[in-house]
Amino acid sequence: MSKEIYLTGDRPTGKLHIGHYIGSLKNRVRMQDSGEYSPFVMIADTQAFTDNARNPEKIRQSLTEVALDYLAVGIDPAKTTIFVQSQIKGLFELTEYFMNLVSVARLQRNPTVKSEISQKGFNEGIPAGFLTYPVSQAADIAIFRATKVPVGDDQEPMLEQARELVRSFNNAYQSDVLVEPVGVFPPKGQGRLPGIDGNAKMSKSLGNGIYISDDTDTMAKKVKSMYTDPLHINITDPGHVEGNVVFTYLDIFDPDKKRVQDLKDHYTAGGLGDMKLKKHLIDVMDAEMAPIRERREKYAQDIPAVLNMLKEGSIRANIVAEATMKDVRHAMGIDYFG
Ligand code: TRP
Repeated sequence: MSKEIYLTGDRPTGKLHIGHYIGSLKNRVRMQDSGEYSPFVMIADTQAFTDNARNPEKIRQSLTEVALDYLAVGIDPAKTTIFVQSQIKGLFELTEYFMNLVSVARLQRNPTVKSEISQKGFNEGIPAGFLTYPVSQAADIAIFRATKVPVGDDQEPMLEQARELVRSFNNAYQSDVLVEPVGVFPPKGQGRLPGIDGNAKMSKSLGNGIYISDDTDTMAKKVKSMYTDPLHINITDPGHVEGNVVFTYLDIFDPDKKRVQDLKDHYTAGGLGDMKLKKHLIDVMDAEMAPIRERREKYAQDIPAVLNMLKEGSIRANIVAEATMKDVRHAMGIDYFG
């Protein structure tokens, strides 16, 4: 029995932050280490061009940063095929064929794409490649015949479209060469880490992120500036836990749940200061992030080795993709010359 395949990836548009770590990377490592899967992790540079077409230098630099983030959190190239999207030429081909199986109206309905469009405010109009990136993402998943896609909650609409495209393809060409994927989402309550300012989304453009590569001092400074409870002015004032970012983070990072509950009770009753609470958060976060950061620094000392790892992963990924494309071309009847 061959193992179930999972595939996922990230756009290289900057370093990854702890929101990525909590919302997606941890899940991947857990699945990788379970030994139940054959994992593929892709640096989605082609997709990064859909909204950064005029910024190739950013994509090029971010490619190594993202690879370092992967290695640091424990994505292991001995277990996971880590590869680069643009190097898999079959993806462009499958995307082109998928493009004919989706309507423009359907593309315009994707809620994640819609909110990204309004957030990005494309001044020169929406790039066609951006509106259609869910099609290319469907090809990413389908070409590896991935059944599982570990991603953040915001990616559900992409999976929906991927399933539709797989069904349309198999239907149109009376085949069963492609398989329908399902999303694997983070455990409830751990899906999305808010920014340090309390915004529901941590993002580079909002400047509210803590990065996997941040050193202890940088991280501590960010935690100290975290949004807490604006009504908690004096230490003796009763404080609010709801909507208090420090507690949201403690729920996620502090393994001692009883201790968190005691802190919540103390804070609610009054008498627990924000600084004391934040110092505790810095300690528990550092306990988790310090080993990751150290591994990252070690890998960063040999960038050629990191690039070589990506190259070898891409060669392996390409073999799998080409096998699917052979079946795709056959199903479509375009293997004219044998
Ligand atoms: N859209 C994903 C992101 O925003 C990146 C991505 C590209 C992806 N292709 C994928 C994720 C295929 C899962 C599967 O980071």
